[in-house]
This record gives sequence, structure tokens and C-alpha cells, in this order.
Amino acid sequence: MPIHPPEPFRIKMVEPIELITKEERREAIKHAGYNLFGLKAEDVFIDLLTDSGTGAMSQEQWSALMVGDESYAGSRSYHRLAETVSKIFGFNHFVPTHQGRAAENILCSILLKEKQSVPSNTHFDTTDANIRARKANPVNLVIDEAYDPGVKHPFKGNMDLEKLDNFISQTGAENIPFGMLTITNNAGGGQPVSMENIRLVSKIYRDNKIPFFIDACRYAENTYFIKLRESGFEDRSTLDIAREIFSHADGATMSAKKDAHVNIGGFLAMNDHQLYQNAGNELILREGFLTYGGLAGRDLDAIAVGLQEGLDEKYLSYRLNQTAYLAEKLFEKGIPILRPAGGHAVYVDAKSFFPQIPQSEYPAHALCVELYIEGGIRTIEIGSVMFAHIDPATGETVYPQLELVRLAIPRRVYTQSHLDYVVDVFSKITGRKDNIKGLKITYAPELLRHFTARFEPL
Ligand code: F0G
Repeated sequence: MPIHPPEPFRIKMVEPIELITKEERREAIKHAGYNLFGLKAEDVFIDLLTDSGTGAMSQEQWSALMVGDESYAGSRSYHRLAETVSKIFGFNHFVPTHQGRAAENILCSILLKEKQSVPSNTHFDTTDANIRARKANPVNLVIDEAYDPGVKHPFKGNMDLEKLDNFISQTGAENIPFGMLTITNNAGGGQPVSMENIRLVSKIYRDNKIPFFIDACRYAENTYFIKLRESGFEDRSTLDIAREIFSHADGATMSAKKDAHVNIGGFLAMNDHQLYQNAGNELILREGFLTYGGLAGRDLDAIAVGLQEGLDEKYLSYRLNQTAYLAEKLFEKGIPILRPAGGHAVYVDAKSFFPQIPQSEYPAHALCVELYIEGGIRTIEIGSVMFAHIDPATGETVYPQLELVRLAIPRRVYTQSHLDYVVDVFSKITGRKDNIKGLKITYAPELLRHFTARFEPL
């Protein structure tokens, strides 16, 4: 029997949620063009769409908002954040941004040219799209185990070092302006990357003189996985592990909306001074001055506090065990999930759940729609809606290997009974799953189509 860890906090403020009737849910999802992003949040009962910006801030973070310094330049809030970023990440420079994708945009705008390539274990959708938007190629080189939902590997987010080496030799380092690594690997199941892998990826990039940027959104969860699973790290603090991770890189993109426990914010960090100056020019053009980058001073203070709370080991133990609890409960009920559980989310393997639905009819998206209709649960598809694309060389549609539904758990928001309810809803769908059909797309924009596409059931 999986055991839910007791929450290391108690609840001081509540936000009501309501389960509208099934008839109302059917109407709401139809009205939204069968896209869960189109729903009104008030029509959702349990919102597992994302763990991004949806966490609960602590009393210390709310207090920090009150001392926010709103000076245009050089605010105390900026300096408090700078001190924390330097303590954890150790890079020479950073610029605040309004969220992670703004950091990605700046990085791509100053380094990336048409037809160049950027390797990673797996790029997340916004990184993938930021690279494609510049007519360049995002390349995913995660280990093969990542594509097999049943294989239990402690670091399923690892980069395949041989693939990386081969890719660099074939492409030429001069066509790779920077390389990345996503920790934890969100699009590949929220799986961690080992310190050994980070070291070796760094060595390959450095031997080839390719600047190495870590996509660090969920770095704190990754540090705790390293502490739990990698020998030699049992007795090291998460802060110490984080410092070592980033010492292997030349910079990082960060969405503070995840492991920094805030509702908005991010940054781009780097060692290189020239790069910092170029990033600063782009920041001032599009985001804001160097010391606030599109955020209010109070946001910078909340990030500074959240970054430190994110590394708290008692909290991280609770966090990873809560996710594992949901995963194991679903597994017990026979739901095919990606194992082991990720850090921030549980991923359901929709290809196995709906073998009757081909990828061209979006099995993972069909499951998202069913979860909403059955139980008012909102999830996200990480499969063909998000990642299928036309190969420019052949004109054919290329489908992703994994067809997943992600149940992302907002930080410090839902309790055990909410998660038990989710498991019950899955059980109800399982009873009639063979009769469920896929969907067709009736509208889609060129990039990031999952946000606004519209569908019709088949
Ligand atoms: N990188 C990763 C690994 C992410 O998961 C995200 C966002 C981003 C970059 C972009 O950050 O949203 O602050 O601009 N992921 C969210 C999610 C949206 O639901 O997983 P952002």
C-alpha cells in the first residue's frame, strides 16, 4: 500500500473549488473546442494542467512581497535575489525575466542562427518552439530507456552520451551555438539526470567548445533525486548538490514558476561577460531594465525566498513522495504509467491505455478530455498534439515516440484526498475505455498548437 506523506505545512487560507455537473462539464469542454486550455478555471475541480505558477506561496514569501522595493534601477529586491541566485547557481551574471520562455527567447536571439542545431536530452515545448521559430533545429538525445514507459531506470532523464558525441561530429561544433540539458526532463516524464551524466555532458560540450546551458526549472527536485539515488551524494546537502550541478555549466535558463515557488518570474544566468551584455541589451528592449526584467520588485523578493524554500530537504522528501504516491496508486489500479514516477508529475502512457486509438487521432488528448468529463480533472497532453510536426524534407508527419497524459501536481496545493479522488476517476474511465474514440483537429496555429488548437470528437 503506498503511503501518502503528511504535508509539512498546515492550511491557513483556503480557495473554494466546485465540481459542476457532468452535463455542465460536457457543455464546457465542447464550448472550449475540446481543448482544456479553453476551459474556465472555475469549471475545473482538480487542476493538474501544470505545476507552473500554480503553487501556494509560503507565509515567508507573502511577507517578502511587503518589503519589495519598486525602484526602477538597483532595487534592494534585485540585490536580495542576486545574492540568492549567486549562492545557489554560482554564475557570474544573471538577468531577471518574466518567465522561463523569455529567458529562452533572449538566449536564442543572441546566439542562434537559421539552420543551426541545439541538442538536449529533451527540449520542452517552449524551448523547442523558440528554436524552431528561428528556423533552427531542436534535437533530443535522451537515453533509449526514456522511451520505454515500463523500464525502471533511476535517471531516465540522462543524455545518451554516444548519441551526443555522434551528433556533434556529424553536425560540426560550429553549427551548434549552444547545447542544453533539461533537469528534470519534463517532456520525457519529469525524470532526473544524474550528476555523473551532467559531468560527462559538460565534458563533451566543453571539449567541443560548445557553451552549455541547463534548463533549470526543476533543478531542486533533481538535486533530491541525486541525493536519494546516486552513490556518494547521500550525505551532501541539496544546496551543495545544486552548486556542483551548475559548476559544470556555462549558464542556465530558469522558470521560477516551478522550483522557486512563485506565480511568475524567471531568469537567464551565464558566466560570459560579453554574453551578459548582449542579453542585457535584448532584455532592455523587450522585458525591462537589467535589475527587474519584466517583474515587480516584490516578485523578485518572492523568488529569492522561494528559491531557498525549494531546496528544503523535508519539503522535497514530501514532494517526491506525494508524486510517487499518486503514481503507485494508479499503477495498483492497472493504469499504465511511466515508471518510476517523475518529480513534479505522473505521466500516463496513453498508447497502452487506448490501443484502439492511432496517434493520428490523439489518444493522449482523448484521455485528457475523458478525465475532464468524468471527474472535472484538468490535465495536459504531452504527445502528438504537442509534438507531432511535418518533416520539411519529406512532407510527412513525424509522431513523437511517447503519447503521454501528464498529471502535474501544483506545489503545496492538493492533499491526499484530492489525489485519491483522481485515482477513483481513472477507475471509472477504465471500465469503459475500449469504447472511447479519438479526435480530429479543426484548427491549429503553426507553432505551440496545443495551447489554442480546436478539436472535434470522431
Ligand atoms: N522549460 C521547462 C522544462 C518547462 O517545463 C517550462 C514550462 C519552460 C521551460 C518554460 O517556462 O512557462 O515559465 O515560460 N513548463 C510549464 C509546464 C508551462 O506546464 O510544464 P515558462
